[in-house]
Amino acid sequence: MSTGSPTALSACAIVATVAVSALLRWRRKQQGSSPLPPGPPRLPIVGNMFDMPTTKIWETALEWGKTYGDMVYIEVAGVPMLLVNSFDISMDLLTKRSSIYSSRPRMIMAEIGGWGWATPMVPYGETLKWHRSILHKFFSSPSLLKYTDSQQQGCYMFLRQLLEAPDEYDRHVRRLPSAVMMMNTYGHSVKDDNDRYVIQGETCARMITDFNGYFILDLMPWLRHIPEWVPGAKFQRLARESRELSKSYKHDLYALTKKNYLEGKAKECVTTLYLDGATNEAGVVEQEESFGDVTSIVFLAGSDTSVLAIMNLVLAMLKFPEVQRRAQEELDRVVGTDRLPTFNDREQLPYVNALCSEVLRWQAIGPITIPHYTTEEDEYKGYRIPKGTMVLANIWAMARNADVYPDPLEVKPERWLPGGANFNSIRPEEFVFGFGRRICPGRVWAEHMLFIAAASLLSAFKLERALDAEGNLIPLNEHYEGETVRYLGKSECKITPRTEKVASLIREHAESF
Ligand code: HEM
Repeated sequence: MSTGSPTALSACAIVATVAVSALLRWRRKQQGSSPLPPGPPRLPIVGNMFDMPTTKIWETALEWGKTYGDMVYIEVAGVPMLLVNSFDISMDLLTKRSSIYSSRPRMIMAEIGGWGWATPMVPYGETLKWHRSILHKFFSSPSLLKYTDSQQQGCYMFLRQLLEAPDEYDRHVRRLPSAVMMMNTYGHSVKDDNDRYVIQGETCARMITDFNGYFILDLMPWLRHIPEWVPGAKFQRLARESRELSKSYKHDLYALTKKNYLEGKAKECVTTLYLDGATNEAGVVEQEESFGDVTSIVFLAGSDTSVLAIMNLVLAMLKFPEVQRRAQEELDRVVGTDRLPTFNDREQLPYVNALCSEVLRWQAIGPITIPHYTTEEDEYKGYRIPKGTMVLANIWAMARNADVYPDPLEVKPERWLPGGANFNSIRPEEFVFGFGRRICPGRVWAEHMLFIAAASLLSAFKLERALDAEGNLIPLNEHYEGETVRYLGKSECKITPRTEKVASLIREHAESF
């Protein structure tokens, strides 16, 4: 979600441009039958433009919620937005009424930057359905792609890297989901941190995140026609660079995998499985262009998010050592010390499973959904929600609602266990992945990845806070930044193998990778 300030462009231009259309819209709305949902007072033309935070809209939405309720309506220069702080309302609108709440607004910077084809940007319709059907087929369960095998293998490698360079845990965490994703999507084996395709993917992901500062273009789409040489139009340079990157990113790895496939050298992955079924006798691949679009988005959408889930897990373990101790006690009892955990152990590890749920709740990775967009006017609880409203569900607010989750800032896996405070409550997995027809298609893959990473890490290593030269605890890094996802850097810590035996087990397994 982009919430950048319009400061880059002159306020006069903004006012002049939106004045006529916004005034007309405003007049029309005043004549409508039901009132709009409550929200901070709007000025006639610019609406709430000057109330908009430049960062962390989810915090402002929660603050506004204290005055206006769980559904806060604002308008920014004629663009209607609904911020939803509650799970129930998000379900009512985005899931139960998904036939009209499932599109996406135009995101001009993504369009001119060459990313209009990316699944999260695609408006609701046949193209989106096709993208999602492919993603569903391969990621909604591990049965077809058997991705749990590569997640398991990736974890052995991860443990090995931790053994060798524990201080660089953030680097190893970053590599784990990326390498598994590359293997699952393209059969590409990531050998080291300098992998060309991973770097390319990460550069794209960063670039797309930078688009956040150009929300102003969505309000005044005509600005896209300003030439690059005009002062203040540096977005055109970014868009040009992004178009080039987007093209090569989409093309390079797919082309390599297809070549390997045709030569009989490719490892089984989403691309080869698709090519198996979609190549006709003349060698023509059905919907090849669209398929390339879908595969390219998997790494971009799935890598950073899954990395952050594991980074949050590590932080939780350093901050709440008693939780780590209980998880390890369960792992020792169920898995023992002669082997490393596998997915077969999952059902016997309720505390570790609860820990994974709790980590997803404790620090929302994507604090707010990507904007949903209404394709028809709606009426809800006596309020009118105009056609063309951007609807943002505040995942961050839901996750730390103290009325539902007591002590929301604490990590308490036991809350999810029988008899625990939240045993019968809404599970984090029901909202941290979004809602309705735009719900994250990678959630099952991500849940598997987090489970096996947590079980492997805690089975093998002890995580402790680091001490300074005077023997004092070094403060943890709890600083999050980013708008689309909340990035977290590493904390100073000590990561040591729990036994000599586990260290040799790790060496054995990693050698057979
Ligand atoms: C812990 C990890 C993850 C989290 C927290 C997460 C969260 C989300 C959220 C909140 C959305 C927006 C949903 C909405 O608009 O209602 C989303 C969309 C999406 N996610 Fe994930 N995600 C994760 C992992 C993944 C993975 C592994 C993949 C790859 C298979 C993936 C692919 C996507 C795609 C393609 C979309 C866009 C869907 C659409 O617009 O229809 N995500 N994700």
